[in-house]
This record gives sequence, structure tokens and C-alpha cells, in this order.
Amino acid sequence: MNQHARLEDKPIPFIDVAAQRRRLGRAADDAIARVLAHCQFIQGPEVRALEAELAAFCGARHAIACSSGTDALRLVLMAWDIRPGDAVICPTFTFCATAEVVALSGATPVLADVLPETFNLDPESCGRAIASAKRRGLKPRAIIPVDLFGLPADHDAIAAIAAAHGLLVLDDAAQSFGATYKGRKLGAHAHATATSFFPAKPLGCYGDGGAIFTDDDALAAKLKSLRVHGEGADRYDAARIGITGRLDTMQAAILLEKLKIFPDEIVTRDAAAQRYSAGLAGVATLPRVGNESTSVWAQYTIRLAPGRRDALAAALKAQGIPTAIYYAKPLHRQVAYRDFPVADGGLPVSERLAEEVISLPMHAYLEAPVQDRIIAAVRRALAG
Ligand SMILES: Cc1ncc(COP(=O)(O)O)c(C=O)c1O
Repeated sequence: MNQHARLEDKPIPFIDVAAQRRRLGRAADDAIARVLAHCQFIQGPEVRALEAELAAFCGARHAIACSSGTDALRLVLMAWDIRPGDAVICPTFTFCATAEVVALSGATPVLADVLPETFNLDPESCGRAIASAKRRGLKPRAIIPVDLFGLPADHDAIAAIAAAHGLLVLDDAAQSFGATYKGRKLGAHAHATATSFFPAKPLGCYGDGGAIFTDDDALAAKLKSLRVHGEGADRYDAARIGITGRLDTMQAAILLEKLKIFPDEIVTRDAAAQRYSAGLAGVATLPRVGNESTSVWAQYTIRLAPGRRDALAAALKAQGIPTAIYYAKPLHRQVAYRDFPVADGGLPVSERLAEEVISLPMHAYLEAPVQDRIIAAVRRALAG
């Protein structure tokens, strides 16, 4: 095998965290060194600085940093006093954390279907989920739309349904921080927005982390208390039941450095998505971004007729190209969630998507020759 052939067969990462680490270089090391020097590991100055920068970045009045995307969702439900007997509408085609936090609160997640073009909550199915909840004697309290794979949900349509039924909206933007809907970034659309800084996310840290965004002053104050055991006037004044939900200072220090390059990474991710879309036109159903939104491309997910993707995944794997299936099982097919109610009319789109979707490598450091190799391999596999 010659040198060229070896390079051709080099494994391709699905998400290249190491390439970003190389770009950050000394900046990340120095950020950690500053924290090691001042030793304020909990709620240190970097946490406050990050909150100010995150809020300015997305146009929300408040950013509250916390321990994970899951805790970001959970803290909001705690602040809203979501409890047993309440219903919270969630899409079924999502990561389990979206509905997990509802179940943990004692309330009932009611699962709704998604739209085939965007993979996001179908407003009509959301309405049918509210009807389904009421018929079961549950009290609908909130909707958790998810901005899946980097793309915003239809927030105006969801806000209209929420307003008509007196519900709160908690946007699960764990995969989509940095994306825009109608010219404004996520974080500025719902009553509260949660995001995740899990390392694989578009804006990730070097461990677990998350944040909540809101324009509601009272909610922000309550969230800040809840993330520190429900503290009141001081740390030893327990005003309410809370959790250990803080973001570590080290993670905040890393995120401050990553936020500096994030706008550039969003552009690069979008360019990679455009390159896929041009190269794969006609061979699969490609992701579509309407002209009212921008995506941060947490995933580049294509759709194939049922039964075709396993052969594609195997052909790509043989050439060192990883793929992933998000999500082979929607929540209503998962053991932990299958007994929760679903929207009237069922969840046929999610059922179909679960059979059709396959995601290709996507990150901000996907070089054109590597991407050409992936595109050529996909085209070959699908032609065969
Ligand atoms: C849609 C969605 N919601 C919530 C979460 C939870 O985020 P975290 O892993 O930071 O708790 C994730 C992360 O994978 C996610 O994809």
C-alpha cells in the first residue's frame, strides 16, 4: 500500500474535538492556569463573565450557567413548580433528557410528533397532545420544543399554541445554541431556553455544562437560587429546595475561549453543510433550512428509504467513515417512556424518521478533501 492509499484510509472523526483543541492551543491552557492561580473553583469570576457574554451573544436579558443541559431543563421546571398532575408536551423524536426532566418532576410528558422536513415539533400534533393530556385529566402546563440537529423549531407557531392554552414554553436548544429564528438567536424566543455545553455540542466545554436564558427577572433570580440548593440571603439560608446545579469555573474559563471562535465555527459548519448538500443532491433526502432560520448543524442528517441505511453505514465504516443514527428509537419506543401518553393521531412521522435517518461526520474542522472523500463514498454506496 503506498503512502497516498494510507492517507485515503485514515479514519475520519465524527466530531473532531481534537482539531478545535489544537486551534485553541495556549489560550485554553492559559484560561485553566488563571483558574488554578485564583482557586475560585466554584462560582468564580469566569462564571459571571461567561454569563454576561452568553446573554449578549444571544440577546437574552439573563444567562444562568449550570451543570448540564439536563439540569438547565430541570431547573426551569422546578422554578415553574411543574408537579404531579401536570402535563408537559415534548416531541418524541429527541434525546431522552427532554422528557426525562418532566418525569423527574413528577409531571407527565405527553409525546407529540415532528415534521418530516425539519425533524422538529409539529405544531398541529402539539395541539393534539394538549387535547390528549386534557382527556386524561392532566393539566397542561408547558411545551418543550426541541431545536433538533442545530435547527430552530417553528417558535412562532408554538408560541401561538402556548398563548391560546395559557402554557409556558421551555425551548430545548441543547443542540442548537447559536442558531437563529427570524433573525434572532435562540435564547430570545421562549419563556426560557436551555442549552448544553456537552463536548460534542456546537458550543461545548471540556466536561458537562449548560445554561438557561430568559428575559424574566423573577425567573432568573429563582434559577440562581435553585442551582445552589435553593439558597436565600446567603449560602446557609435555605429558601427553597434546590440542587447542586452550578457550572464549574474551569468549564466557564474554557467556554470563554471557545465563545471567541464560535461565530467563525458557525460559518465553517454552515459551509460544510452546503458542501454536503451540493455533493449529495439527488442521492438522498437532504436536510432543509427554511429561509426564516439558520442552523448550527449539530448533525448533518440525511434520509434514505427504509432498509437502505445499514448497507450505507457498513460501506462507509469499511472506508473509515463513521456515521450515527439519531434516533433509531423515538421516546415512545423506549422502555422508560413507552407508557407515557402520546398525541391523538399517533406519531407516524417519528416512526418513519427512525427508519430513515443517518448522520454524517459534521464539525467546524471538516476539510474539503476529507468531505469530498465522504461524499464520494456515500454516492458510491448509494449507487451500488
Ligand atoms: C435535545 C437534548 N436535550 C437535552 C440534552 C441534555 O444535555 P446534557 O447532556 O448536557 O445534560 C441533550 C444532550 O445530549 C440533547 O441533545
